Amino acid sequence: MPELTTAETPAGADDADRLVRWEGPPIPNQKPTGGPWPVRFYRSQVGKKWVMAVTGIIMIGYVVAHAVGNLKLYTGEEAFNNYADFLRHFLYPILPESGFLWLMRPILLLALIFHVHAAASLTIQNRKARTATYKSHREYIAANFASRSMRWTGVIIFLFIVFHILDLTVGSANPDFEHGAAYNNLVLSLERPAVAAIYIVANLALGIHLFHGAWSMFQSLGWNSPRFNPARRWIAWAIGAFVIVVNLSFPITILAGWVTPEGLRF
Ligand code: HEM
Repeated sequence: MPELTTAETPAGADDADRLVRWEGPPIPNQKPTGGPWPVRFYRSQVGKKWVMAVTGIIMIGYVVAHAVGNLKLYTGEEAFNNYADFLRHFLYPILPESGFLWLMRPILLLALIFHVHAAASLTIQNRKARTATYKSHREYIAANFASRSMRWTGVIIFLFIVFHILDLTVGSANPDFEHGAAYNNLVLSLERPAVAAIYIVANLALGIHLFHGAWSMFQSLGWNSPRFNPARRWIAWAIGAFVIVVNLSFPITILAGWVTPEGLRF
């Protein structure tokens, strides 16, 4: 069976940057044909990677903005409820009430659908194309860990989003839910240890997913010169760590009794 060999690694590069040299027979150029340009682009491997990167950037933007907004929890009930109300009235009366939220929802939903679809079809395409073995066991373990962890953390995040919307937006998973009472809905929900555990596990998974995702996103967009690698690594770490620290702080401070339905205890 033909093998992939690893070429000389430039200074400053690591496992993810190694150049891989194909030593098997020439691979025929399988350019997708038919349909308009965006469809042809999406059908190609490069197109799917770009779509994953662009939809990933949209969702990272949302997750970071959402985490920053949720920090209002530490300024008390009134400020947090006012913030939730502000989001519902953002750009009102240019847009109808909740118009901004309704504008964001289809964008996020489409980003999520394309992100998951591109990831699934890239995995299937790669599995079909993999006729070669890895040169070293270490290389195999590294590639496998990254792709497996992306799949598992991706599934956990998806299930969490469904639960989270039923918990805090629709309210059907939250027995104490009251429309418009964002602070109480959040605190009464996360006071239940099982729910806090779901938030902790899901946000740890999200942090890991964002770390790997942000790293490979730069690669997909072509920013993978060893010169940029320290910055790439730093940005990927910063995004993953920020989301873990901020989002885990909510279930932890609520479980610890520092944020209660009666107010803040610090
Ligand atoms: C501990 C971390 C989190 C907290 C405390 C939190 C808090 C909240 C709250 C209070 C709401 C309801 C706002 C309202 O309608 O009044 C909400 C909605 C939402 N959250 Fe989170 N969230 C967290 C993490 C996440 C994560 C990680 C994601 C995505 C990966 C996410 C996605 C959403 C979405 C999509 C909505 C629905 C927005 C809409 O109304 O369309 N949240 N969150």
